[in-house]
Amino acid sequence: MAGGVVLKDIVKSFGDVTVIPDLNLDVAEGEFVVLVGPSGCGKSTTLRMIAGLEKVSSGSISIAGRDVTWERPKQRDIAMVFQSYALYPHMNVGENMSFALRLARTSKEEVKERVLRAAEMLELTPYLDRKPKDLSGGQRQRVAMGRAVVRDAYCFLFDEPLSNLDAKLRASMRTELALLHKRLGRTMIYVTHDQIEAMTMADRIVIMKDGLIQQVGTPKEVYNEPANVFVATFIGSPSMTLLDAELVDEAGQISVRGSGFELPIPDRLAARAKGAKSRNIRVGLRPEHFAGTALDDDFAPLDLTVKVSEYIGSSQFLAAELGGADITAAVDVGPESDLLSDGTYYFDTRRVYLFDRENGLAI
Ligand SMILES: Nc1ncnc2c1ncn2[C@@H]1O[C@H](COP(=O)(O)OP(=O)(O)OP(=O)(O)O)[C@@H](O)[C@H]1O
Ligand SMILES: [Mg+2]
Repeated sequence: MAGGVVLKDIVKSFGDVTVIPDLNLDVAEGEFVVLVGPSGCGKSTTLRMIAGLEKVSSGSISIAGRDVTWERPKQRDIAMVFQSYALYPHMNVGENMSFALRLARTSKEEVKERVLRAAEMLELTPYLDRKPKDLSGGQRQRVAMGRAVVRDAYCFLFDEPLSNLDAKLRASMRTELALLHKRLGRTMIYVTHDQIEAMTMADRIVIMKDGLIQQVGTPKEVYNEPANVFVATFIGSPSMTLLDAELVDEAGQISVRGSGFELPIPDRLAARAKGAKSRNIRVGLRPEHFAGTALDDDFAPLDLTVKVSEYIGSSQFLAAELGGADITAAVDVGPESDLLSDGTYYFDTRRVYLFDRENGLAI
């Protein structure tokens, strides 16, 4: 049996309700895999089944080549940070972090070294002697993280460990976690509904919806080649706009035509567009592929009616209309940027996405 973490034909029901109908996933040894998806899609349930905190209804789980389906959490060689964590209230931060190590009779020096290193990484060094009740929510969450990272386990499981942290700390913790993964080389499975976390940390991303895996791929794959409309709109921020359109074939030249626009098809899609089942499709346009001017010949003009313009520093978001449909564009106009008004904007046609209008699958 292969190493890593392997979920085979997993079904999970609570009473009559099946929340995971059929899940198969292979996480390679040493890989950092991120599970993402909207609230209630089954991320925590999946992680808890890997940890052994939740029994599978059917199917099997193996860790490091060993079938652990019916083993207790303690036997699985995993360390986990829960979504709803509880610290030991009577222990200070250092004691909370070292508890598992002390149970495992790790030597005093080793415990001290690992706790100090984890505290440093988590910016908790000044708080080692404090009790949890005297910490902020974000500090407590970092202690919960510290309890897992001081341990050495075959596999680390994280369930939204950064959700209580402010934006700046989240960003630096993302970097620290990536470094930790590099240093330990351990298998890590990380749950979040934050797609930026997923994109920045993952070797591969697993996108779930209603207990079903929609796509598994590297961050580049899921962004550039989304398997369906759900993945396309879930990955990327602000979200891709989808517009109803028709495939038009004029003397072998294929384009898409919708209300108020016509765009040529990029080369990478031409053959697939020719073989499409139906001419009725949806076109996907990511906001970041708009520009204020045509940067080269592949940019095509689109006339937008701007409803709201938001300045965010790096660029300007436009909530606009194109042929009566809502569309979002992000345009960088430099430091002289002002509220942008109705007019002609340009779209990089190499970045056009096409989907079947019936089943939502990528063309
Ligand atoms: N013990 C339980 N009994 C009944 N239903 C449950 C139980 N635990 C989870 N569920 C249901 O299973 C589904 C998946 O829940 P889960 O906690 O895995 O979602 P999630 O993807 O982690 O969501 P979130 O992002 O909100 O944490 C939900 O519909 C939830 O209500
Ligand atoms: Mg959850």
